[in-house]
Amino acid sequence: MTQNTPRTTDDATWWRSAVVYQVYVRSFADANGDGIGDLRGITQRLPYLRDLGVDALWLTPFYTSPQIDGGYDVADYRDVDPIFGNLDDFDTMIGQAHSLGLRVIVDLVPNHTSSAHPWFTAALAAGPGSAERERYLFRDGRGADGELPPNDWESIFGGPAWTRVADGQWYLHLFDPAQPDLNWRHPEVRAEFEEILRFWLDRGVDGFRIDVAHGMIKEEGLPDVGFGMLIDGRRQSSMLGSGRLPYFDQDEVHDIYRAWRPILDSYPGGRMAVAEAWAETPQRLARYIGPDELQQAFSFDFLDATWEAGSFRKVIDTALAEATIVGAPTTWVLSNHDKQRHVTRYGDGEVGLRRARAAALLMLALPGCTYLYQGEELGLPEVLDLPDELRQDPSFLRTGESRDGCRVPLPWEGTEPPYGFGPAGCDKSWLPAPASWAQLSVAAQTGVAGSTLELYRSALRIRRAHPGLAGSDDPVRWLDAAPGVLAFSRRATPDAPELVCVVNISAAPAPVGGYGPVLLASAPPTEVDGEIALPVDAAAWFERE
Ligand code: NOJ
Ligand code: CA
Repeated sequence: MTQNTPRTTDDATWWRSAVVYQVYVRSFADANGDGIGDLRGITQRLPYLRDLGVDALWLTPFYTSPQIDGGYDVADYRDVDPIFGNLDDFDTMIGQAHSLGLRVIVDLVPNHTSSAHPWFTAALAAGPGSAERERYLFRDGRGADGELPPNDWESIFGGPAWTRVADGQWYLHLFDPAQPDLNWRHPEVRAEFEEILRFWLDRGVDGFRIDVAHGMIKEEGLPDVGFGMLIDGRRQSSMLGSGRLPYFDQDEVHDIYRAWRPILDSYPGGRMAVAEAWAETPQRLARYIGPDELQQAFSFDFLDATWEAGSFRKVIDTALAEATIVGAPTTWVLSNHDKQRHVTRYGDGEVGLRRARAAALLMLALPGCTYLYQGEELGLPEVLDLPDELRQDPSFLRTGESRDGCRVPLPWEGTEPPYGFGPAGCDKSWLPAPASWAQLSVAAQTGVAGSTLELYRSALRIRRAHPGLAGSDDPVRWLDAAPGVLAFSRRATPDAPELVCVVNISAAPAPVGGYGPVLLASAPPTEVDGEIALPVDAAAWFERE
C-alpha cells in the first residue's frame, strides 16, 4: 500500500507537481452523527487519503456561516462553524495531516462576506452615507424614487445583482443576496484579509484556494454591462470566462495579490495560493500567476473539454504553452463541487465511467498540479434525481440549476445509505445517497482488482515513483497516432525510462504494440490481428526504455 513519506518543510515547490484532493467538508465524513460532514470526520479518514496517495487536501469553507451557499457566505473568518467542529478540531486535523505527509489548503472567500457578518449588520444599522456602508458596495437606485437597481449587473445565481434595503439604498451581491460584495478599494478591507491570511498561516496551513479571485475589484463608477441581463437569450453571467464584464478581471485586482505574495513568502515551507479565476483569455488568466502574485490559477478548460481527441489536444497544448510563458506548471481539474461530475458529463452509466477512468489516466500523466474532487476516485456519478425539496443550492431557486448532485455524501462502507458516512448505526445524511452506491463504496472497491479506487491508487503510486511522471516541467512529446487516439510520452532525462500515455477516443480498438510493457490500463487491453490493442474509451500507461 502506498505510504507518503512525511514532507520536508523546506520543499517550497511541492505544489508544482502535487495531487490535491478536494474535501467538500459537509459531505466527506461525519464524526458526530448529525448527518453533516465535519473536521473530526476528516481527521478519522486521513489514513484513507494517505493510502490513496495524494499530496494535499483542499478543504471547502468550514468557517462560521449561516450556510446559505454551502459556507461560501462567511460570518467569521477566524472561527470554525459549530456544525463542523471548533478550532481545536482544526488544529488536531492539520497536525495529523502533516504527520501523515499531507499538506492542507483552505478556502478563502474575500469577494463577499455573509450578510450575517458583523460588518454588514453594522452597515445596515448605520444607514446611507455612513463609514460602515463604505466597506460594501451600497448605492442609490435609479428611477424617480430610486426603485430600480443602480445598474444592469446580473447575479451569477440569477436575477439582479442588487438588493434594496429598508432605507431605500441597494447593495451589490454578485452571488446570493446573503453574500454582499466587499469594497476592495477600502483600506480596512485589505488590512483585514491580510490579517486573516496570517491567522491561518500561523495555524500551519500550506495554502489557500482563493474564491472568485477575479472579482474583488469592480470597474470604477460601476458602469452598465450595456445589454441588460440577457443577450440573445443568454444570461449575462454566461459570459464568464469569454467576454469582458465590468465586475470581473479588472487590472487593479492584481495589486491585492502583489500585497499577499510577500505574506505567503514570509512563512517557511512553500505556502501557496491557487486562484479560482475566470478571465476572458488564457493570457489574462496567466496574469494571476507569477513570482509576485499567486502560484497557480485553476484552468477549467480541461474540465470543459468534450470527449473528443481534438478537444483534449487543444486544451492540453494551450495549457502547456501558457505554463511555459508564466514559468509555472498548469493545473488540471476534471470535477469540483460546482460542476456536474465527469462520469455523468461523459455520458453517464457504463460509458461515462469508462471514459472517466480513461480521463483520469490522461490527467494524471500530464505535467503539473492535479486537483481531484472527492468521490471521483470511486467513479461516483452525479445524482440527478434528488427531490427538489432536499436541494440546498441557492442558485436552484433562482435559476433551476443546482449543484447538489455532485455534493452527495461519500459512501464509505456497508449496504444501506448513508454507507458509513456517519458513525456506526447512524442513518442520517444531509443529502441521500442512491441505492446503487453500495457497490461504489470505499470498502466495496478496496482490494478489488480493476475497481476505480484501485485504478486511482495505482496511478498515484506510479505517478510518485516513475521518473517519467515525477517532474513538473518535462515536456509532453506527442506521438503519431490514428485519428481519435491521443498518444504522448514523457521522459525526465535522456537515460531515464519513458512513460507513454495512450487514450483511445476513436470508434475502434487502437493498436499499441510498440509502446512497451503496460504499467496500468483503465480497461484490459485486447488483441487485434495478433497485436495488443487498447479498447475504445480506454487509456493506458506504458514504459518504454
Ligand atoms: C465559487 C465557489 O466554488 C462556489 O461554490 C460559490 O458558490 C461561489 N464561488 C461564491 O462564493
Ligand atoms: Ca457532523
